[in-house]
Amino acid sequence: MARSYLSGRLGRWPMSASTLAVPACCRASWTHTHLVFAGDRAEEFTSRMAGRPYDGGGIRVTTDATRAASDDDLRALTATRMAELRAAGTTTVEVKSGYGLNVDDEARTLRLATEVTDETTFLGAHLLPAEYEGRADDYIDLVCGPMLEACAPHSRWIDAFCEMGAFDADQCRAVLDAGRAAGFGLRLHGNQLGHGPGVQLAVESGCASVDHCTYLSDSDVEALAGSDTVATFLPATDFLTRQPYPDARRVIDAGATVALATNCNPGSSYTTSMSFCIALAVRDMNMTIDAAVQAATLGGAVVLRRTDVGRLSPGSAGHLVVLEAPSHHHLAYRPGVPLVRQTIT
Ligand code: NIG
Repeated sequence: MARSYLSGRLGRWPMSASTLAVPACCRASWTHTHLVFAGDRAEEFTSRMAGRPYDGGGIRVTTDATRAASDDDLRALTATRMAELRAAGTTTVEVKSGYGLNVDDEARTLRLATEVTDETTFLGAHLLPAEYEGRADDYIDLVCGPMLEACAPHSRWIDAFCEMGAFDADQCRAVLDAGRAAGFGLRLHGNQLGHGPGVQLAVESGCASVDHCTYLSDSDVEALAGSDTVATFLPATDFLTRQPYPDARRVIDAGATVALATNCNPGSSYTTSMSFCIALAVRDMNMTIDAAVQAATLGGAVVLRRTDVGRLSPGSAGHLVVLEAPSHHHLAYRPGVPLVRQTIT
């Protein structure tokens, strides 16, 4: 089978069926992973498949296992996941914290993340840790104070989980305000499990992205379209948590910028495969194959506010992915088939 060289500037598509120049880092899972963690949640997944809904509560299970793991254990687990991402064609990756949930373990997991990427994100406001049960505002004070200070040397971005059962809009706004004041770039998890204030808050706060966007009202779409906030869709999460898929076409047609990412984490989306995400976006989110590949490459670069990656143009990084396929359409056409032959970074 012919090889396709995935590289290049978005929008400049194939010259022929057998030699193809498409975006650099074409398979990049730019944004939204939570790679530094220990433990296993296969049982939670199994019971979800038997009907138990996903509510994010399992984050505490991973937090216990991560706190108990040594640096070397976490380093080895992260390296394995990074190797998997690379083999699947990812060239640039964002890694969030969120499984330490105390000052030392948030700083420690971010420090370990900096060993594999420059794009690290402090997510202390992921879920209320058990020891703060009933004292969410005290925990937010910790996140905005000592935790943020300890994490600042290891993180470029700050994030919060704005969702029923996690943190409300006021608590997330406090985290984003503290992060902005400390010089972090901003992002937000929002509208994952139901309609809520996440998208509006992200837009008001000037977040670079709001991630999930599974449930979007018309005013959410309008707000995104009138902003620089990218809507990052995580279709593997919707697949693995049995949520409905968002209609990406509606968001693109409104004029908003969209991105795709794996959200690799042990609870809602334990996959490192961007081609799987592209296939789902095409099959279930009303995206064309070109739009899905663009969202997975240039879209991710916009989320990271990077101009040196996500496109092939003079001066940009020579990140390439070689596919064993006659065209990039095979990314969606052959779901589950490992088409990547080489990832060049
Ligand atoms: O983005 N939504 C919140 N955080 C992760 C899931 C974390 C977990 O369940 O461990 C996500 O889906």
